[in-house]
Amino acid sequence: VKVLVLYGGTSSEREISLKSGKAVAEGLKKAGYAVEVLDVNKDNLAEISRIKPDVVFNALHGKYGEDGRMQAYLDLLGIPYTGSGMTASIIGMNKILTKKILTCENIPTAEYVVIKRKGFVPEDVSSIMDKLGCPLVVKAPTQGSSIGTHIVKNAEALREAINDAFNYDDEVLVEKFIAGTEVTAALLGNEDPVVLPIIEITSANEFYDYQSKYTPGMCQHIIPARITKKAETKVREISSKVYKAVGCRGFARIDFIVDKDDQPWVLEINTIPGMTEMSLVPDAARAAGMSFEELVDRIVKLALQ
Ligand code: DAL
Ligand code: MG
Repeated sequence: VKVLVLYGGTSSEREISLKSGKAVAEGLKKAGYAVEVLDVNKDNLAEISRIKPDVVFNALHGKYGEDGRMQAYLDLLGIPYTGSGMTASIIGMNKILTKKILTCENIPTAEYVVIKRKGFVPEDVSSIMDKLGCPLVVKAPTQGSSIGTHIVKNAEALREAINDAFNYDDEVLVEKFIAGTEVTAALLGNEDPVVLPIIEITSANEFYDYQSKYTPGMCQHIIPARITKKAETKVREISSKVYKAVGCRGFARIDFIVDKDDQPWVLEINTIPGMTEMSLVPDAARAAGMSFEELVDRIVKLALQ
């Protein structure tokens, strides 16, 4: 079976995707696949048809790779690919759309407001604090790896954070801050996904931001997560519900905060989660007794089902 690994790309998460793609390509070679790699950009897209892979392993994070566009292109070419299809990818890459789906399905997620660039009056941020309290979390809705995300504790910081998020998107998500333990659930499967061991994440910074995600020693993955059995059961149940509600396939990673009352709150879903040597999904797989090669092999097989 010939696998083409797409990696790199042009999004703000390019550097992470280069690492994910390299690790995936190595893993697939060890698992016995014929592997080619392509660092995709708008000028070399036709290479995909020329290479004619049996399946694409999509290791692109962020815009143009994870957000449904590449999925649509591969659908048009008739080439199977790993991970979710177009619609789930569009939903997963847009934190506002994700929140809307979660709210419709009664899945617990922090209360939020959406601020549009047009009509945003910086002087009016106090009304957001009146509604959602303080601290708040400000997010650029279509970024990954915490790019454009800020935790703010006063009106001035809120204004600055919203302005920063507008550098990435025309809409900004502002959420109520939920204190608790950050955990993540990796899921593997198509219709009936398996939830791998839950991982707790601790960060040397105030939260699990870009720097702590990718600087060795600045975060810890704790397996099993130090949450109660009751909380763990809820995380597992909610994860499967989110995966199905969004319509994911192959694999995904769902991030949560578990509050002091054992209630998990969904932060977001990642439809092409990081696959670097520091990443969470490979760690969760390892804890389930699955090597990296076995993990990437399983993801390819799920794409061909
Ligand atoms: N967006 C990064 C790659 C992750 O979810 O791991
Ligand atoms: Mg993400």
